[in-house]
Amino acid sequence: MEIGGVLFTEADIRSRVAALAEEVDEHYAGESCTVVSVLKGGCLFTADLIRRLTMPLYLSFAAVSSYRSGTTGGNPRIEFFPTDHEIRGRRVLVVDDILDTGRTLAFLRDVLVEAGVKEFKTCVLLDKPSRRITDFQADFRGFEVPDVFVAGYGLDYAGRYRNLPDIVGMRPGISPQ
Ligand code: IMP
Ligand code: MG
Repeated sequence: MEIGGVLFTEADIRSRVAALAEEVDEHYAGESCTVVSVLKGGCLFTADLIRRLTMPLYLSFAAVSSYRSGTTGGNPRIEFFPTDHEIRGRRVLVVDDILDTGRTLAFLRDVLVEAGVKEFKTCVLLDKPSRRITDFQADFRGFEVPDVFVAGYGLDYAGRYRNLPDIVGMRPGISPQ
């Protein structure tokens, strides 16, 4: 795969994140919450989003990995999780780069609800609804994207391109070195 066209420029992202932050801010109306940023892809978006939120917030992280077995799909597994006092009895906003099949966020929702969160909400920068295999919907979302593999602004292709300031579509071609 190689880099195809730019889908969202740095400026597109900046203005959409600002509008999204206003929506999120309105929802919390000054009440505190714990933002759980999903590593690794969600960290750039989280960093930009939370600087525009005005309610008191705690910042925490989670990491989930999927091991795919044949065509049956992967079993999500927790690699890193907030500590109990960061989430129990609190309003929790999970922030991720992209909602694709929905397995990661549906799994995180189940685990966080089990851990006793008071409220569970999600904010994703990108939504690829055509790929969904669960009924998961994000509460706040930035842009809808078609079924193309995207990279940049935190999102990777084979571990690369997370540092690109724009979001690009990948297309079949020569593999990166
Ligand atoms: P889901 O569990 O299928 O919804 O996948 C969510 C995760 O897969 C995201 O947090 C990303 O890390 C990764 N992912 C899904 N689609 C893409 C893509 O187009 N580019 C980069 N990463 C992606
Ligand atoms: Mg991810």
